[in-house]
Amino acid sequence: MTPQEELKQKAAVIAVGFVESGMVVGLGTGSTTQFALERLGERIRSGGLHDIVGIPSSLRTEKAARELGIPLTDFETHPLIDVTIDGADEVDPELNLIKGGGGALLREKVLAQATRRNIIIVDESKLAPRLGTTWALPVEVVPFARPAEERFLASMGAAVTLRSKGGRPVTTDQGNLLLDAAFGPMENPAAIAEKLNGRAGIVEHGLFIGLAHDVIVAGREGVRHLKRRP
Ligand code: A5P
Repeated sequence: MTPQEELKQKAAVIAVGFVESGMVVGLGTGSTTQFALERLGERIRSGGLHDIVGIPSSLRTEKAARELGIPLTDFETHPLIDVTIDGADEVDPELNLIKGGGGALLREKVLAQATRRNIIIVDESKLAPRLGTTWALPVEVVPFARPAEERFLASMGAAVTLRSKGGRPVTTDQGNLLLDAAFGPMENPAAIAEKLNGRAGIVEHGLFIGLAHDVIVAGREGVRHLKRRP
């Protein structure tokens, strides 16, 4: 395991410590969350946790959870989630986030908005004085609207790239496209989020404003537990 993976695992193990028997757990997406899934699976299999059900935020997480023996449910059966554990691409001092590096931002935000306690797990490289400092903002758009939304994002000052892999556009679990919009350090991420919320062709964006309750940050000097100010 690389030193960074060790940090991710540390944060994940601490977060899973907040899960109690009987809870509905939101399962995020990404390499850090993968460690949380593994730990959750271990605790369930060893009998340390019982009556746990998870709601996955992506097809990838759904597959991993099944393989690890984590029982799954859906919003039909459980419209409210007790705890969601998820990663992030950037975290600012107010605990606002950029998410969507793994392309699962829409379902991740649906989970976060339906959750009593959102716990974000990161290694220290994800902390930034302002969102947008090191990471472009992922924006999910319907394919029909892609050129219009590219233009719109550019008019807001972002350098826009269509996310692709192996020469082909990446599609989300919903069959949409992803635009990575490099805004640079954002002075007012909430205002940017609001502007994007108003665009019909934008299905969702990766700005998570005021959604994280706890951020577990693993660093070389130890683990810090940041809590949202009341
Ligand atoms: C998935 O869409 C993302 O929001 C991830 O949670 C985020 O990209 C963090 O991923 P890593 O844990 O792999 O860095």
